[in-house]
Amino acid sequence: MNLKKYLDQQVEDCLASAGSPGAPAVVKQAGKPEFGHYQANGIMGAAKKLGVNPRELALKVVEYAEKVLHETATLEIAGPGFINITLSPDFIASKLTGMFADKRLGVTAESPQKILVDYSSPNLAKEMHIGHLRSTAIGDAAVKVLEFLGHEVIRANHVGDWGAQFGSLLAYMDRLENEGKPLATELKDLEQFYQKASELFRTDEEFARDAREFVVKLQSGDDACRSLWQRFINESISHCQAIYALLDISLTADDVKPESAYNDDLTEIVSALESKNMIEISDGAKCVFLPEFTGKNGDPLPSIVQKSDGGFPYVATDLAAARFRGQQLRVNRAIYFVDGRQALHFNQLFAISRKAGFFDKSQDFRHVPFGAILNKDGKPYKTRDGGAVKLADVANESISRALSLVGDKNPGLTEQDKADIARVVGVGAIKYAELSKNRTTDYIFDWDTMLSFDGNTAPYLQYAYTRIMSIFRRATSDNELNNVAFRLEEPAELALAFKLLQYSEAVEGVTEDFQANVLCTYLFELAGLFMSFYESCPVLKADDETRDSRLKLCDLSARTLKHGLGLLGINTVEQM
Ligand code: ARG
Repeated sequence: MNLKKYLDQQVEDCLASAGSPGAPAVVKQAGKPEFGHYQANGIMGAAKKLGVNPRELALKVVEYAEKVLHETATLEIAGPGFINITLSPDFIASKLTGMFADKRLGVTAESPQKILVDYSSPNLAKEMHIGHLRSTAIGDAAVKVLEFLGHEVIRANHVGDWGAQFGSLLAYMDRLENEGKPLATELKDLEQFYQKASELFRTDEEFARDAREFVVKLQSGDDACRSLWQRFINESISHCQAIYALLDISLTADDVKPESAYNDDLTEIVSALESKNMIEISDGAKCVFLPEFTGKNGDPLPSIVQKSDGGFPYVATDLAAARFRGQQLRVNRAIYFVDGRQALHFNQLFAISRKAGFFDKSQDFRHVPFGAILNKDGKPYKTRDGGAVKLADVANESISRALSLVGDKNPGLTEQDKADIARVVGVGAIKYAELSKNRTTDYIFDWDTMLSFDGNTAPYLQYAYTRIMSIFRRATSDNELNNVAFRLEEPAELALAFKLLQYSEAVEGVTEDFQANVLCTYLFELAGLFMSFYESCPVLKADDETRDSRLKLCDLSARTLKHGLGLLGINTVEQM
């Protein structure tokens, strides 16, 4: 049960009985967690609208609320008309018992929708670089949370596998083949392959001519050229899949629906726009002008849907994809996790699609943007020579740094255990660093912070989890915890219990604005409250009933931490 939503509803009903229907209750958690406080702040606004004294309205609301909430909480008017709601320890204990017995940890499913999530979506002409971490990690967490909330989720990896940049690659493959060099070996380092090809394109005229010819051949469906291209694409996709596997990302090869899959729809998209009189020719290109998009000087800003040479740009493919998602898949929602610098592209894309009827008003298409990854000096994160930092290198470096930390922390582990733990910690650290930030702002990529065992990091949470596991390795009680009653007496116990009950608020909070940091902050606070509880309340040395109640709190804390981290795509280990 989502406590906040429940209290919101109760106070709103009471507001309605007190003569203010439809007024929002605005219930928020307030004060230290051990107090179990929520506060309703909406009374003042409602009183203002009604033209009555806020404290008098609050008094009426409390009168009604006491009737329905008397077993749940005590109510008190504070300040100019706030209502303080203090949950009773019995209520907390009984709800916690329910949560303990529930596999879903108290999170109820929402009414299911069909939701497409477009994420990761790298361009295949290059190796995945650090910038892809954002869309990939944030998108994968969103997908997991949405699925857990009961939705049918379609993962869409809209990879870029089409366009002029493939000309040089194909020309280079062709040249290598002619020279008798084994392509499979050459393609191992895709980044280098791409660099060599583009270098040749810049310096060798004959090569550049070949490259341009290859683009034409590719687009006209030439068989030999297509099969060469397919080899490159396959190689490139298997690189991506290897990175997804390394990073525990749930995208499979079946989730790839590349740009090229929409080729056959592109002319039709343009005719559809033409038949709606949406196309204007400008400098030989077919453009859509919408009044809401203007440039700096107020001039109308075009979206070019077909270039003067007949080629189709990025937006054309995206229009075809949007139509497919809207009309064929009939999604309720389509969420695009893409860099904030593409905001204009998506605004135009959605505006054109809506006007052309590619999806309708009931379908929610949305760009979820994010900022850039910076180095400590606030500059874009690059290699020393200014190149893109490969995502695979980032992952491997994180794992090797984690390995030395784990070795320092627990030298007695076997090499295999150390390696297994390092992978979970290293991968967790970089993903969590992403997810714990407000996604809209740029963030600084800093190894020391993200791999620290203190602070709001994955290693800290993973370590908290292992602390709980170690309690269970030493515990001797064989009472079935399901039958044990919670005894919540110490402030630290109440605080932890209250926090645990807010798990569903945290999970549901993620999808409100696709800020995974809502869940990260929750888990961080939960781990902190667990640590304080563990410091002030002996578990194994307590008398039997208290010990079992505390073990039950430990167990629920561990399950909640593990589950929450799992939704973020982060694993746990039993010891570290
Ligand atoms: N391939 C694009 C890029 O790397 C991102 C694609 C995002 N998805 C989309 N439907 N446009 O910038």
